[in-house]
Amino acid sequence: MDSDNIYIGLMSGTSIDAVDAVAVKFNTRGIEQIGCYSQAIPEDLKQQILHLCQAPTDSVQLLAETDHRLGKLYAQATLGLIANAQLETSAISAIGCHGQTIRHCAPSDGNIGFSLQIGDANILAVETGIPVVADFRRKDMALGGQGAPLVPAFHQYAFASTNANRVIVNIGGISNISLVASNGDCIGFDTGPGNLLMDLWSQTHIGTHYDHNGDWAASGEPYQPLLQQMKGCEFFTKPAPKSTGRELFNHSWLNTQLAEFPNLEPQDIQATLLSLTAETICEAILNLDPSADEVYVCGGGAYNSQLMAKLSEQLPSLKSTDSLGIAPNLVEGFAFAWLAKQRLDNQPGNLAKVTGAKRQTVLGGLYLP
Ligand SMILES: Nc1ncnc2c1ncn2[C@@H]1O[C@H](COP(=O)(O)OP(=O)(O)O)[C@@H](O)[C@H]1O
Ligand SMILES: [Mg+2]
Repeated sequence: MDSDNIYIGLMSGTSIDAVDAVAVKFNTRGIEQIGCYSQAIPEDLKQQILHLCQAPTDSVQLLAETDHRLGKLYAQATLGLIANAQLETSAISAIGCHGQTIRHCAPSDGNIGFSLQIGDANILAVETGIPVVADFRRKDMALGGQGAPLVPAFHQYAFASTNANRVIVNIGGISNISLVASNGDCIGFDTGPGNLLMDLWSQTHIGTHYDHNGDWAASGEPYQPLLQQMKGCEFFTKPAPKSTGRELFNHSWLNTQLAEFPNLEPQDIQATLLSLTAETICEAILNLDPSADEVYVCGGGAYNSQLMAKLSEQLPSLKSTDSLGIAPNLVEGFAFAWLAKQRLDNQPGNLAKVTGAKRQTVLGGLYLP
């Protein structure tokens, strides 16, 4: 095998559900998936991460322990992928590891910008014997950018078409869109909540990590006054560049929204949250210039059939990225494999127009075994 061109991408996002691992071969014909693996995040580790995501339950001791545990988990995911796909460790150039975000603060409104991803890349490099690229966001932020979203550059590389303006919608915990225009331009930004609020409400009321296929939401009816109130959140009308996370869209945000509506049925609230996700995504897409000809969904939200149906009402051309050759749950992993390759090739990983950074730059730090 050509040892220069196989990269592994590891992604664990705001949903804190799993580490998605993918091995990708880059060659002149394009990109080829040569293996994938999903490593569940154990419940107690998930709880530790959630504690770290919110003051005042965070602590330096917990941060350091969780960083270590995640480093081990990323190594386990990588070794699982290597065994599953029967890969030779020596054939893999590098692992691109996003890490687990525990705090993201966009540099706006007078805030200092910072973004913190953990999961010790030293442990990952040593336990796999493979070089690791990690800490992708902070160079962009050092240049005044949001450090997010980073996937649009990959969407442009992998999905651009000279015949159509394509929009890629990544519905993870948070949702982000990329407009990959036929003239070579690319813009992108976070639209707001993806699955995060629906997940929170399902966990509280039906005790499952998420609302499978949106079935529970489908048993309720969206409540318009609540929906309109939630859509009034200023994040939705803020101009790009913009990024967000659990710092804004969390239990406390939801409780504040619900305070005026104490008598709603839980399933109607779930239906309203699904509508909020769908409508804010649709409105962001319908306001794009140039307008979208084709819309493709990736991220776990692509598996929520009720959400997809709701999106299709306003976006009739909607498909999942399966039709572009990459399974929705693997697109972000592909992006971080590509970002690792960009780092080793000394090529830029950010799009200054997307993040608001002063310039394009090579992203990520390199950790050797
Ligand atoms: N069959 C399904 N039905 C409904 N939602 C789903 C389904 N499969 C995945 N999801 C949603 O996708 C989320 C995970 O998406 P993912 O892209 O991994 O997000 P993140 O990048 O934030 O980890 C789950 O938490 C869940 O909300
Ligand atoms: Mg995930």
